[in-house]
Amino acid sequence: MPVSDLSAELVLRDLGTEVIGRQGRYHPVTSSTQDLAQAAGRAGVPEGVVFIADRQTAGRGRLGRPWQAPPGGSLLLSVLLRPAAGVYPVLSMAGALATCRAIEETSRLRASLKWPNDVLVRDKKVAGVLVEGEVAGSAADFAALGIGINVNLDPASLKGVTYPVTSLSAELGRSLSRVQVAQSLLRHLERLYLGASSGESPYGEWRARLVTLGKRVRVDTGRGTDEGIAEDVDQTGALLLRRGDGSLLTLLAGEVTLQRSRR
Ligand code: BTN
Repeated sequence: MPVSDLSAELVLRDLGTEVIGRQGRYHPVTSSTQDLAQAAGRAGVPEGVVFIADRQTAGRGRLGRPWQAPPGGSLLLSVLLRPAAGVYPVLSMAGALATCRAIEETSRLRASLKWPNDVLVRDKKVAGVLVEGEVAGSAADFAALGIGINVNLDPASLKGVTYPVTSLSAELGRSLSRVQVAQSLLRHLERLYLGASSGESPYGEWRARLVTLGKRVRVDTGRGTDEGIAEDVDQTGALLLRRGDGSLLTLLAGEVTLQRSRR
């Protein structure tokens, strides 16, 4: 796909949202759209601005991992938000859910989630969500909500990933318009964000989409690993892990590997 298939103008045209995407900036190449959104956050730019790139030289994922995206094939965007008190903890749920809904709307593929926010199609990761923010007092001053979706790329071009990956085009056997996926994503994000801002949590649908619950899992927290049954998630998105000794561990972040269940 040529880079010219994506631009802020195309994405924002007829978007019809009030907050998310009220302005957009497109960069053929940048370090990370997260850097752009954070710089805008510190500079006092109003919320809702969307930063889109075709290529990132330092794209990043959760737990300090790099995010790979060969040029021309991914949707890479970050939205600057200024969430009301209490909304910051559900932003990544809202981002993951908006991504699932956009994938389903534009491709008809069924999307699910692996805790906390890996978006899966046919059990392979197709998209990820990263929230970074700065807190002022008890509320978030701003948040950069970043989403990367493998739209039209060959999963074999992603090197060194330790989990199964895919793209929408690989699952569909044809390419999709990145502009349409972006528009669908931003519209769903707006609904979920405005809903969360008026007290409607995305928790219920997010929880229902998690393939992780009830499974035996290993969780790498970056500081060690824990194993057990993924018993539930709480309203803040934390995973409740029941360990072999019966204790219940509350995990805020980590990389989950599903284990074969023992009988
Ligand atoms: C993950 O699953 O680890 C989260 C990946 C988030 C990647 C997106 S791509 C757009 C934005 N810019 C970044 O550098 N990261 C996020």
